[in-house]
Amino acid sequence: TIAATGDRPMSFSAQNLPEGLKLDPATGRITGALAMKGEHIVMLGAKNSLGSVEKKFRIVCGDQIALTPPMGWNSWNCFAQENSADNVKAAADVLVKRGLANHGWTYVNIDDFWQNNRESQDPTLQGPFRDTDGFVVPNARFPDMKGLADYVHGLGLKIGLYSSPGPWTCGGCTGSFQHEQQDAQTYAKWGFDYFKYDWCSYGSIADGKAATDKSISSSDAGEKGKRDVEVATYPYRLMGKFLREQKRDIVFSVCQYGMSEVWKWGASVNGNCWRTTYDITDTWESMSSIGFDQQDQAAPFAKPGNWNDPDMLVVGHVGWGNPHPTRLTPDEQYTHISLWCLLSAPLLIGCDMTKFDDFTLSLLTNDEVLAIDQDPLGKQATCVIKDGDLRVYARELEDGSRAVGFFNRGGKPMELSFKDFAKIGLTGKQTPRDLWRQKNLAAVDTAMDSIPLTIPA
Ligand code: GAL
Repeated sequence: TIAATGDRPMSFSAQNLPEGLKLDPATGRITGALAMKGEHIVMLGAKNSLGSVEKKFRIVCGDQIALTPPMGWNSWNCFAQENSADNVKAAADVLVKRGLANHGWTYVNIDDFWQNNRESQDPTLQGPFRDTDGFVVPNARFPDMKGLADYVHGLGLKIGLYSSPGPWTCGGCTGSFQHEQQDAQTYAKWGFDYFKYDWCSYGSIADGKAATDKSISSSDAGEKGKRDVEVATYPYRLMGKFLREQKRDIVFSVCQYGMSEVWKWGASVNGNCWRTTYDITDTWESMSSIGFDQQDQAAPFAKPGNWNDPDMLVVGHVGWGNPHPTRLTPDEQYTHISLWCLLSAPLLIGCDMTKFDDFTLSLLTNDEVLAIDQDPLGKQATCVIKDGDLRVYARELEDGSRAVGFFNRGGKPMELSFKDFAKIGLTGKQTPRDLWRQKNLAAVDTAMDSIPLTIPA
């Protein structure tokens, strides 16, 4: 869907669309398939009663997908075991109704608990794990997977699903062990566009337990997968291959918490993104230690099609089955979104979309901030200055400019006269711009001037 903000009705145009693709001028949706590798520069147009606008857009067809980090929503951080098709549909509706889709928010991802569960007493989670032919059976809250995918596609969005290479997911639902190919075929048949594969009980398999062993814990990561790269990569290589064999572009999200330096091999198993960390929660300690302390080592491995994933966003109403407003303060939330965009992280909103407030909406729809995350060069920022509580992150952008984040990890506001331009790779005359406020600051000559900054606690 062409992402364009503004009043509806709107009509869309696309000049120079390659053969095989077609545009619906009323919805702005481009559909179809390309038979040959290649790059195409298309001129997109959007027009409403107030005016019109054009923008160049690059379509690339080749061996790689997810050329910019995926943006969307995932059920886990708000609903966890309360996941249901109704909640998923409601989230998709809000992405469209509140206009987030017009800023590029696209994927609607179903996490754990769409399958039946090994121990739950909840009747909606009890039932067969697989049918007599071995095909996975969704639980009663997901009565029609194909219908759900059609519904989400009908809104101009894409849809994602979740499983584990082990016999059980982390929450104790049906995993894909020994049904990998069949599952990949099933996801493609239903129409899924994104797939998260979560290590979980595979830890016990990797350590040598039999799949039928009742003592297998759903969430034990085990030992071997932490040290032995062959063991760690095996299940992902297998599923990565089966996903690639499907006649669909399915983004492959590797989730094994960063074990055995996944950033070094994630691309080789067809992973489009890989978690670099254990689970995030909505506290400053969790978000800041993941964001500031654990990402630099993985940065050189991020590139178009392969992204480091510091886990999903914890803004809005989150709470793993028991949602409450995020415990991050507003400035901590600016830190979270700024940092994740600098890190070229997949951006997956983790909140209850039906309780979406205006602050969270503005936080997630600032196009100049999102453009840093989505910059096509795909270079992840690293920390270039670490001085007391000050952290300065910088990254190079496709147009030759630099995105820079100034952060204060301390408890008091910080006054700064910044002149260390060499550290962020800038010389000569420059016009700094505050992307959150979308305003230029005073122009500077990097040889003699400095930028006065107040960085909140
Ligand atoms: C965890 C994973 C979470 C979520 C959860 C589901 O292992 O890191 O993001 O998917 O399992 O049970």
